[in-house]
Amino acid sequence: MKRITLSEPGGLEQLHLDNGPEPGEPGPGEIRVRLHASSLNFHDYAVVSGAIPTKNGRIPMADGAGVVEATGEGVSEFKVGDHVVSTFFPHWLDGPAPIDNFSTTPGDGQDGYAREQVVRPTNWFTHAPKGYSHAEAATLTTAGLTAWRALVVDGGLKAGDTVLTLGTGGVSIFALQFAKMMGARVISTSSSDEKLERLLALGADHIINYTSTPAWGEKVKELTDGQGVDHVVEVGGPGTLPESIEAVRIGGHISLIGVLTGRAGEVPTAKLMAKQARLQGLIVGSRAHQHEMIRAIEANNMHPILDRSFALEEIADAFRHEESGKHFGKICLEF
Ligand SMILES: NC(=O)c1ccc[n+]([C@@H]2O[C@H](COP(=O)([O-])OP(=O)(O)OC[C@H]3O[C@@H](n4cnc5c(N)ncnc54)[C@H](OP(=O)(O)O)[C@@H]3O)[C@@H](O)[C@H]2O)c1
Repeated sequence: MKRITLSEPGGLEQLHLDNGPEPGEPGPGEIRVRLHASSLNFHDYAVVSGAIPTKNGRIPMADGAGVVEATGEGVSEFKVGDHVVSTFFPHWLDGPAPIDNFSTTPGDGQDGYAREQVVRPTNWFTHAPKGYSHAEAATLTTAGLTAWRALVVDGGLKAGDTVLTLGTGGVSIFALQFAKMMGARVISTSSSDEKLERLLALGADHIINYTSTPAWGEKVKELTDGQGVDHVVEVGGPGTLPESIEAVRIGGHISLIGVLTGRAGEVPTAKLMAKQARLQGLIVGSRAHQHEMIRAIEANNMHPILDRSFALEEIADAFRHEESGKHFGKICLEF
């Protein structure tokens, strides 16, 4: 079985292709999945680059999609031939978040899906959306579910709301797509005019170049008759949060998701208080959230935006492509 492992201390040159042991037959309550795709996230990059230390020999990648090859005793949810996609928190099935770390997350605290086969309990996967390729399905585990939870689960998004997305990473493009799918208006930012044109083509109602318009929070207010937006999908962190607080409407909602500009910084707390806005941290979502998202995707025939695919053995090149920042949409591994 082909697999990728990461040697200490991490770094793209520490990613190795080898032949790992076959996973064997699934036990009671388990399935064996022939994986065919994964997709790259900023979190996976943090692991493989060594920024998030992990175990020597770790198999990276949180997202995995493929086909059920064998089922163990007592498995009724899946049958051989079903197309499945992995879950980010295999033990968080439903209800409020029970965990604040990545100790159970595949590709970080556990071995992930840069490999051809895996045997896991059924809870580690859900069905993939009908009609999806494996690469499309693999985009849902991390980026898709994070955007879904931010807007729909935590944000209570409704038709007519206005959503602000920052940059054109995987989470932000999903947020734009879900928001349009659900009848919201969207204001999207990017550092690239070319990418901004592509956001318009995807349905963004207004676009802002956050490099040439550093006071983009004010601009968002102008575009919303001085009101601000109902939801901000905040992937930037300390470098963008002050502008996001400027951009949110009184009583609006900011999903604190990302660390693209750093891990700590100053927050204008008095302004946030005066805005009476909700600032909510989140990490991805539960298996139940994934079921709800996939139901919505199927009902709307929504498909993710794919940038480009690489072979499993080209994983380092795939991450170099992510590093370059030239991508628009999800970068995938297909195997
Ligand atoms: N909490 C969670 O559950 C969760 C889940 C997934 C991701 N995340 C976090 O969310 C962030 C985005 O993840 P991703 O996987 O979507 O990343 P990604 O695909 O690697 O996103 C890269 C894009 O982010 C944009 N960007 C960079 N700096 C920016 C800034 N200062 N302002 C606005 N946009 C900026 C750029 O867009 P342009 O090229 O258009 O400028 C860049 O292309 C990361 O910090 C990641 O760790 C958190």
